[in-house]
Amino acid sequence: MKKIGVLTSGGDCAGLNAAIRGVVLHASHHYGCTVYGIRQGTHGLIHRPVLADILDPKDMNDDVLRKGGTFLGTINKGNPFHFPMKDGTYQDISQTVIDGFHALGLDGLIGIGGDGSTAILQKISKAGNIPFVAIPKTIDDDIGSTDHSIGFLTALDVATDSLDRLHPTAQSHNRVMILEVMGRDAGHIALNCGIAGGADMILLPEIPYKIDAIAAFLKNKTSAIIVVAEAAERESGEKSTVKNELGNVTRYAGIGDYLSRELSGKISAEIRVTVLGHIQRGGSPCAKDRIFASAFGVHAVDTLLAGRTDRLVVWSGGEVKDISINDGIGIYRSVDIHGSLVRTARGLGISFGEENV
Ligand code: F6P
Repeated sequence: MKKIGVLTSGGDCAGLNAAIRGVVLHASHHYGCTVYGIRQGTHGLIHRPVLADILDPKDMNDDVLRKGGTFLGTINKGNPFHFPMKDGTYQDISQTVIDGFHALGLDGLIGIGGDGSTAILQKISKAGNIPFVAIPKTIDDDIGSTDHSIGFLTALDVATDSLDRLHPTAQSHNRVMILEVMGRDAGHIALNCGIAGGADMILLPEIPYKIDAIAAFLKNKTSAIIVVAEAAERESGEKSTVKNELGNVTRYAGIGDYLSRELSGKISAEIRVTVLGHIQRGGSPCAKDRIFASAFGVHAVDTLLAGRTDRLVVWSGGEVKDISINDGIGIYRSVDIHGSLVRTARGLGISFGEENV
């Protein structure tokens, strides 16, 4: 195997460049491979000419390690098996992706993505007979087979820092501050930052709450901080979503404003809402994200070059390993409502907005 491709797919996050760097340095220096960076995920393989460049190990310096986003670009729409055409129809154009890969003369592919992108890339690799190894990234931390996915810890630091900044202003004005954080569809960022940042209340998709219970809890407070996960449901059980022109849900947004509206008539304190949004995905990766990303990049190369294909690189039991992709992305991790972190939060007096708890 002398020529391998690397691409990033799905939503970006901090640490992707560190993983690409790990792939390029190890594949070039240890195995003498040429690494092609494929631009814009699968879009780069659909485009003609194919969007890809040889990545020079000399360019993989410390700036790359520190930089947020992905210098290759990425895409989180346009599934090649159900691709939206200009005339409004959907077509399977996966063969175009496969042809694009073979046009580069590549011997194998490393894809850095979340569970959705990895499933698509796996299907393409099987259909096109492409040796494929995946690296997990997601700020949502919902890939259950790995203790760490690239991006989560940096997003957590950003959310925690935001809580540190909200506390003083909440106290100065005797206000209730609601911080809406990302997480589709799991509440890991909310739960973890709520503990790390000393929140009074954490609202999660995994634990139903009652508006009246939240109001009763807040009545005894002069100021308070509520962290809410974007995927938390309204009291009715509906999610707060944004839809595209076809009426399909594209993302979550609005649960913070919903809570503010529902609570405003029930408590006397003023309420302000901060939606943290994509700030959680940007910026320089924290040290651990750089370390996991580098370890994943190096191990993905070793796995591919050892002839193991259809593998997901994971961090498990303090080590980097590879497991079958089906095993890897088949395990979804939501917040364990009986787990240590929920018990820790309860032990600290943090409310989940439930009735009679
Ligand atoms: O899956 C990562 C994620 O950041 C989610 O937490 C969030 O709901 C979604 O992507 C946002 O997607 P987009 O970048 O399309 O707005």
